[in-house]
Amino acid sequence: MLSIDILAVIPALLDGPFAHSMLKRAQDRGLLRVRIFDLREWGLGKHKQLDDYQYGGGAGLVMMPEPLHQAIAELDREAKYDEVIFMTPDGTPFDQAAANQLSLRQNILLICGHYKGIDQRIRDHLITREISIGDYVLSGGELAAAVVVDAVGRLLPGVLNDETSALEDSFQNELLSHPVYTRPAEYNGWHVPDVLLSGHEKKISDWREEKALQRTREIRPDLLDE
Ligand code: 6GU
Repeated sequence: MLSIDILAVIPALLDGPFAHSMLKRAQDRGLLRVRIFDLREWGLGKHKQLDDYQYGGGAGLVMMPEPLHQAIAELDREAKYDEVIFMTPDGTPFDQAAANQLSLRQNILLICGHYKGIDQRIRDHLITREISIGDYVLSGGELAAAVVVDAVGRLLPGVLNDETSALEDSFQNELLSHPVYTRPAEYNGWHVPDVLLSGHEKKISDWREEKALQRTREIRPDLLDE
């Protein structure tokens, strides 16, 4: 069982993503547990303050160390995290290899930042990994955390069935997926490639490999350089 805790500033953003389909099934089967915690509960003073102006000046508020420290310490006492992960646009780019790694852990904490970021001392002393989901800026880490939970959760043994096997995913073999088709063989004058109707297994797998390569060359040549 993988347990993922999420420390969020706007927990309501995470109401939907884990309640359906594959991730719901994973939780119903006892393969995954996702718990959402509201960082505001550890906020300071009667306004439950989480952020303050940054030293040295500049626009944007910074999340203060104390609420984060207290929250992490309290949650870790019970959970004993393998990883305490900060979701941030200046983190390490998330990829399939990272998803595979995290799917082998038992207890993970994902921390969702907001505002201009979190006090660097928390990053230096309490965070074990920093993840970005791509080169663009989101207003907070919650949606990025949902992406990570989805990518990791579907890899847990017993979540996918044969039809949805993760082994054939784009990226598991460093290539994009080949094109896929279903019935009818002709729709609106648009035809399914003959080779797929031929029943010839070798020709079909060669065709798929060629198409996957072609697609990767066109759209993601960087994947072939690695
Ligand atoms: Cl993890 N957080 C935020 N706020 N923005 C992002 C991101 C994370 N990854 C890409 N952009």
